[in-house]
Amino acid sequence: MEVILAEHAGFCFGVQRAVDTVYEQIENRKSNGRPIYTFGSIIHNEEVVKDLRKRGVAVISSLEEAEVLPEPERGTMIIRSHGVEKCVCERLKELGYEVIDATCPFVKRIHDIVERESAAGRSIVIVGDEGHPEVEATRGWSQSPTYIIESVEEAEKFVCREGEELCIVSQTTFNYKKFQDVVEIFDKKGYNGSVVNTVCNATEVRQAEARELAARVDVMIVIGGNHSSNTRKLYEICRQECQMTYYIQTLEDLHLQLPKSVRLVGITAGASTPNNIIEEVQNYVRINF
Ligand code: F3S
Repeated sequence: MEVILAEHAGFCFGVQRAVDTVYEQIENRKSNGRPIYTFGSIIHNEEVVKDLRKRGVAVISSLEEAEVLPEPERGTMIIRSHGVEKCVCERLKELGYEVIDATCPFVKRIHDIVERESAAGRSIVIVGDEGHPEVEATRGWSQSPTYIIESVEEAEKFVCREGEELCIVSQTTFNYKKFQDVVEIFDKKGYNGSVVNTVCNATEVRQAEARELAARVDVMIVIGGNHSSNTRKLYEICRQECQMTYYIQTLEDLHLQLPKSVRLVGITAGASTPNNIIEEVQNYVRINF
């Protein structure tokens, strides 16, 4: 039997970089002795967060928590791939933390655009989900009025102030087609300003690849956390192409009984699934079937 692992299974570039940063800091602590914190969970995966906790990395959930820690305990603070508002970064430094910024460079690019364009007097439109940590962080780099547009309907209702110039950006994980639709509405309304496409295609690439793989194989295994919405989406896509699709969190959930006719098994994983879990599953299937 042949096992094929999707090329883009698991962590995207930005998440991998953020997780690597934490492990690097654990190494550095051997010489500098400073306690390590992440501002929010570095990733939505219990296994990884548990492992980091075991290695002495604590999660700080808010500025208030960072403020109440006694000064000698304020060590290295790692910013996750979603990024944070500019004022949060500055306040953490003021409090004496050494801030290590693991914001994904694609997200950082949006912060830079928003900071520059808002300083030039343009209002900012972020096409994305209100309340999403990345969107909230991006909003925090703007000095001018900032609007969040989640849908075509909201774009239709949007009214610009007289003479207002706009700069339109998007949340990195927003659906590109929906972003285009929103931009089109702004175009039709004849608003002044610029549009920067800041959608990251990591999610799209992963989904397209999973669809293509699931259509070729006899059995498909999708690995990811129970609460991971992008893993669930992957599962649904694969299930449409391949009847025998399994959704597991770790190897322990895999109770495969494969018919003799099975020749090809495909594996993919959500964006917050660590490599070691993917490898474990892959090796198990290779050895046992
Ligand atoms: Fe990942 Fe960065 Fe794109 S965190 S989804 S590579 S914007």
